[in-house]
Amino acid sequence: MKQLQFITQSFKETRDIGKRLAKLVKPGDVICLFGDLGSGKTTLVKGLASGLGAHEEDVTSPTFVFLNVYDQAKRTIFHFDLYRLEREQELFDIGYEEFFYGSGVSIIEWSERLGPLLPKERLDIYLEHTGEDVRDIRLKAVGERYEQLLSAVRIR
Ligand SMILES: Nc1ncnc2c1ncn2[C@@H]1O[C@H](COP(=O)(O)OP(=O)(O)O)[C@@H](O)[C@H]1O
Ligand SMILES: [Mg+2]
Repeated sequence: MKQLQFITQSFKETRDIGKRLAKLVKPGDVICLFGDLGSGKTTLVKGLASGLGAHEEDVTSPTFVFLNVYDQAKRTIFHFDLYRLEREQELFDIGYEEFFYGSGVSIIEWSERLGPLLPKERLDIYLEHTGEDVRDIRLKAVGERYEQLLSAVRIR
């Protein structure tokens, strides 16, 4: 399995990883984020969204709904935050498959809540809060498409 690790020391460095991914994502890509509150998940989404031409200020964790759509960008971005998801059925209710397997890019906070609905092929990103402003960020490709994507990520 292909993996990449970054240690970031600021909000901006984490946001930059999102921006770099923005250059590489294709329609239908799914990025799954794992990490506690404050680990930098939304920060990565800000980078991805702004890299694709959305307004960074529009990117916030959707607290009462679990999906934000940014469609003013080069690619439509589906930003899920499943923290408050209670049952998988809620995902079926909104027709999640159209988002995950459509032509936008999906990025999902609290992906562990997907359980069996976790896509078989995806880019997993694990974030850990290891110091005040330090985050350990690991990108893991699951499936060929994402191995290819990770191979294209430049390590500065
Ligand atoms: N290296 C870093 N990477 C990302 N965020 C950082 C970093 N250092 C400090 N921070 C701060 O940590 C917080 C991360 O918040 P956020 O991205 O919303 O996390 P999450 O969505 O995982 O709860 C922000 O307030 C950000 O400014
Ligand atoms: Mg968040």
